[in-house]
Formats: sequence, C-alpha cells, structure tokens
Amino acid sequence: MKIEIEKCSTSRIGEIDFSSNLPFGKYMSDHMFICKWENGQWGTPRITPYKNLSIAPSSKVFHYGQAIFEGMKAFRDKNDNIFLFRPKDNIERFNKSAIRMNMPEFPEDLFYEALHTLVGMDKDWVPSGEGRSYYIRPFMIGCEEALNAVPSAEYLFMIIGGPVDAIFKGDVKVKIADHFSRAANGGTGFAKCAGNYGGQFYPSSLAKEEGYQSVIWTDDATHTLLEEAGQMNFMIRIGDTLRTAPVSERLLDGITRRSILRLAEDMGIKTEVGPISVAEVLEAGKKGQVIEAFGCGTAAVVSPICGIGYKDDYIDIPALSAEESFGERLRQRIFDIQYNRTEDPYGWRVEVE
Ligand SMILES: Cc1ncc(COP(=O)(O)O)c(C=O)c1O
Repeated sequence: MKIEIEKCSTSRIGEIDFSSNLPFGKYMSDHMFICKWENGQWGTPRITPYKNLSIAPSSKVFHYGQAIFEGMKAFRDKNDNIFLFRPKDNIERFNKSAIRMNMPEFPEDLFYEALHTLVGMDKDWVPSGEGRSYYIRPFMIGCEEALNAVPSAEYLFMIIGGPVDAIFKGDVKVKIADHFSRAANGGTGFAKCAGNYGGQFYPSSLAKEEGYQSVIWTDDATHTLLEEAGQMNFMIRIGDTLRTAPVSERLLDGITRRSILRLAEDMGIKTEVGPISVAEVLEAGKKGQVIEAFGCGTAAVVSPICGIGYKDDYIDIPALSAEESFGERLRQRIFDIQYNRTEDPYGWRVEVE
C-alpha cells in the first residue's frame, strides 16, 4: 500500500534549541505516521503533520489497556548520513506484543517503509553528537468506541519521534524486589504493553523513598532470581563473567541485551546466560566478586549500577575505569556501530535513504 504524504507547511524545528539539553521524549518532530485498522483490515497509511488525536472517552484503550509500543533510535554520522539500528528486530517484537494483546499485527514491510519515510522526511531533527539520537516510538492502541470488555474492533498504529540527548543516569542504586513483581509466568512480561510500565511506577517510587533509584525485578513465584533492571535488561559481572538472565515469558527480549551478548563474545568477554540467584549474588558480594552491574536498553544503552540492596544487605559496587569496565567498552562498541564509526559485520546498521 502506498503511503499518502501530507507535509507540514512550516517546520517547528526552529523552536528547539539543539545546543541545550534535549529531554527524553519531550520534543516531537514535524511529522507522524498513522494507519487505522477497521473492518478487519489496515486502511490507507499516512504521514501527516504531528498533531493531537481526537479520541472518544469510550475508546477501549482507556478502559482495557490494549496498548503496545516499541522504542528505537536513528543516528547521524559525521557525514550527515542517518542510520537505524536493527529496525527489523523492533518490528518483529512489536508484532509479538500485538499477538499477546490480541491486536492485529502490522505488516512488516509497511512498518519498515514507514520508518524510513518518516525518519527521512524529518532527518533534520536527528541531532548530531555522541549519545544523541532521534528516538522513535511506534505504538498501537485499541480505539473502538465501546465499553464491552472484549478486544477492540478498531486500532490506530502510529509512529512518532523526536530528538533526544544521551541519557547519563549517573550511578544508580537498585533494590532487589522481594514482594512486588513486574511480570508473571503466563503474563505479559515479554510484551511491550503499556500496563507493564504503569504497574512498575508504584513499587519503584517506594524504592525511591528508601534511597534507591530503581528496582531489580525478580521472578514472581519465588523472588529469588534476578531478572530485569527497572525498564532495562540486567547484567552483572561476577568475577570475570558477564551474566544475564535467560529470556522467558517474564522478560523483555531486549535488542541491546542481544547486541551486548554478541559483541561481548567477539570482544573475548566471557558471558553466561542463565538464572542468577539473589543468594549467589549476595554471597559473591561478600567475597568482593561483584565487579560490575548495569542495566541495558535502547534509551541509555548501558546504565551503571553502583550498589544493590536486598532487605538488610547491601553490595557496594565501586566504579571501574573506562578501560576496566565491560559495560563502558560495550557501550562504546555499540556507539561505534550506531554512529557509523566502524565496520558493522553484523548488518545491524541500516541507512535511511
Ligand atoms: C522491560 C524492558 N526490558 C528491557 C528493555 C531493553 O530492550 P531494548 O534493548 O530492546 O531497548 C526495555 C526497553 O525497551 C524494557 O522496557
């Protein structure tokens, strides 16, 4: 299906001061992609000026939470070429989320073309500078106007995006969850559905009151296995091995996690994918073997953890130098690929025409 394009008459780009901070997700570029599912099929795909939606209060998304999303980025190299990073992985994951939430899948080819067309049209909005990028947010909501609790018969698929700065969270102290859960067996943890995020806010704010910045989510059945770091995948270096939990229906199969595991292998860093128990981490902490820990995800790439708390225990993780830190070396390697500063033997970098 051909994408219909309506360009904005005047760009808003002059309203943004690119030399100052670009807070995450605050500025949206000139255009958006939108396509509606009704009568059992996708309608005309359109790129229009970025604008508000008019949606009935009875739309199903407001009541039953049929809402999914993705998060990905476009990068500018020093010659002003623009690149996406592993876009097909996001598309595939989006459609897995759609299936789990009983929503229609969005055709992969059209999704891919929409990303290229939208980012190509708004490429002036892709900032330059290490860590800076154009954050892309594809999402879908159930928009049928009806309050009966059955799947929506109508959906809006959209892509919006805007310039963002590097996220440096500083050193983050995390608390291991011993009561609350982000996800459960048979639940929606592996899907990027809105409710997974809303449900985290309360336990995270309780952790903040205790002086932590984030929560390490554990398995819901026993709270004995470390699984995710807030809204990121979790990695911990015990001795010389970089470890992360296996993907399961409770975990989001992160694209950064996947990339890190592959790069680490090629950089000679020993990795292990398998269950990580709270008990062994506490034990390793006492022996001084917890060398490094970090969250990883599209937004921050690598977000260093400086301490892990669990009930009355606390493991302090002193910062390493950039050369010593696996996280920092891996972040740089990912940046080098994303910003086209090095060969990409993996085919992850995709140029936007
Ligand atoms: C719960 C959760 N885990 C992990 C990740 C990291 O995934 P990715 O590397 O694909 O951004 C994210 C962010 O998207 C997330 O929301």
